[in-house]
Amino acid sequence: ALNNRGYSKDTHREIKTVTVIGGGLMGSGIVQVAAATGHNVTLVDRDNELLDRCSVRIRKSLERVTKKKYSDDQEGGRCFLDNTLSRIKYTLDHEKASADCDLIIEAIMEDIDVKQKLFSGLDRVARADTIFASNTSSLSITEIAEATNRKDKFGGLHFFNPVPMMKLVEVVRTDLTSALTHMSLCAFGRALGKTTVDCKDTPGFVVNRLLVPYMAEAVRMLERGDASDRDIDVAMKLGAGYPMGPFELSDYVGLDTMKFILDGWNKKFPDNPLFKPIPMLSQKVSEGKLGMKSGEGFYKYEK
Ligand code: NAI
Repeated sequence: ALNNRGYSKDTHREIKTVTVIGGGLMGSGIVQVAAATGHNVTLVDRDNELLDRCSVRIRKSLERVTKKKYSDDQEGGRCFLDNTLSRIKYTLDHEKASADCDLIIEAIMEDIDVKQKLFSGLDRVARADTIFASNTSSLSITEIAEATNRKDKFGGLHFFNPVPMMKLVEVVRTDLTSALTHMSLCAFGRALGKTTVDCKDTPGFVVNRLLVPYMAEAVRMLERGDASDRDIDVAMKLGAGYPMGPFELSDYVGLDTMKFILDGWNKKFPDNPLFKPIPMLSQKVSEGKLGMKSGEGFYKYEK
């Protein structure tokens, strides 16, 4: 069976062992889902306290999943939980963790220099056939891959928060990503129980390229006084059928994250009016009103 790019759907390498670098919000979710679907996973972060926090978060989340999934089969649930947890290793040692695995997924901070430095080091220690993937939301996969000598084995795997709940993975292909790498990443996404979509390496891929300018336009609308934040949210929920309004969504994503993405794109594409800075957004961020995580963004939240 050939797909629309003319290569066989069956030509992929199965990914069994995965190393995830960065055990924050995204990395811990990726580790959880990969282990729950039978992959052997190693999680790397910067200090033991972070690793401990991460292992507690993963265990708690897995316990919730297990309770739901095995509500009438306690023994099966215990088995699933124990097996899943036994497939996860935690370490501070990047090099050891990366020396022998099928795939390395990077989920560290959104900074091109830091990501390039990390991958350049991993490139030297990883097996020649190990595939590298970044979970970046807004940076160019092509640019990150430039730090390595395996640009054909480099792609994007863009997950969504919360990873255990969200069904989508965007599988990003640069001009240099090989068909084998791309197909292997797609197959891995499916093995995690996710639906994958193919994306070229363009800013924001599919979801964020549409969503971030949409949220930005909502803030500009509020800034002009066209309507209130509450009314805009109600309008988009009841009129467009969206589960959350743009301000609820902005608060959920984090206003600092939204500003960071817009600023990065504006710097790179200064002619695009959709990416221009928004004074109201900058003001909120400078006041520490970052959304749900800080207790206040467009709305107030109980901590
Ligand atoms: P986070 O701040 O929660 O976690 C980052 C983790 O990486 C931290 O635990 C940090 O200690 C660790 N880290 C940083 N540098 C490291 C290094 N050199 N070696 C090992 N560990 C290191 O960040 P989050 O939200 O999980 O984001 C991670 C990546 O995923 C970013 O590139 C972000 O753009 C992307 N992303 C974020 C989404 C979100 O909704 N938060 C959604 C999709 C992608």
